[in-house]
Amino acid sequence: MLESYLTLKAEYEIIPMDLKDCAEVALLHGERFPRVWDESEFQDLLSQETTFGFVARQTNAILKKALPGFVLARHVAGEGEILTIAVNAKLGRAGLGWRLMQAALREARNRGGETMFLEVDGGNQPALGLYRKLGFETVGERKAYYVGDNGAKSTALVMSRVLR
Ligand SMILES: CC(C)(COP(=O)(O)OP(=O)(O)OC[C@H]1O[C@@H](n2cnc3c(N)ncnc32)[C@H](O)[C@@H]1OP(=O)(O)O)[C@@H](O)C(=O)NCCC(=O)NCCS
Repeated sequence: MLESYLTLKAEYEIIPMDLKDCAEVALLHGERFPRVWDESEFQDLLSQETTFGFVARQTNAILKKALPGFVLARHVAGEGEILTIAVNAKLGRAGLGWRLMQAALREARNRGGETMFLEVDGGNQPALGLYRKLGFETVGERKAYYVGDNGAKSTALVMSRVLR
């Protein structure tokens, strides 16, 4: 029994984000980004009709686990925007970011979206890798837009992808 538990391969589902997920979403966001958004900020965003999100949940966890990942996006007048996405650092490179992004792209398309935009730090190689693999291209840049804890400035890239 213990042996089969230890060798269990984790399986995940991607499901719509609910208001009750926001505390865990805020926790994971705080772990992965320097600027913390609290639970109520996520709840306020998710309560808006234009905003939607998805969370990844392990379907075969025996014990309660930390939230594996989430994405939050919005769609206004034909244009979608990824507001934020994060995957638990212990679960990187396992395809969850890809699956979360696919869910957000599909939802934006279902809402009649034609283009999806996002903004990313030009030095964030994992995120750039993910977005490029999804077909996003750089359409603009804002130099010295982000300021790190040590005061170092980095460029923000604006990327977009047609939704079809
Ligand atoms: C960016 C992030 C969401 C990617 O999530 P992930 O689940 O690790 O990504 P996936 O496993 O789906 O990877 C998909 C592709 O992204 C790229 N990628 C992911 N991690 C990478 C890394 N560490 N280095 C380079 N490319 C990477 C690869 O192209 C990868 O495809 P491959 O594994 O077939 O080569 C995750 O690293 C994260 O949460 N980072 C911190 C928060 C953040 O920066 N969010 C984006 C803000 S704009």
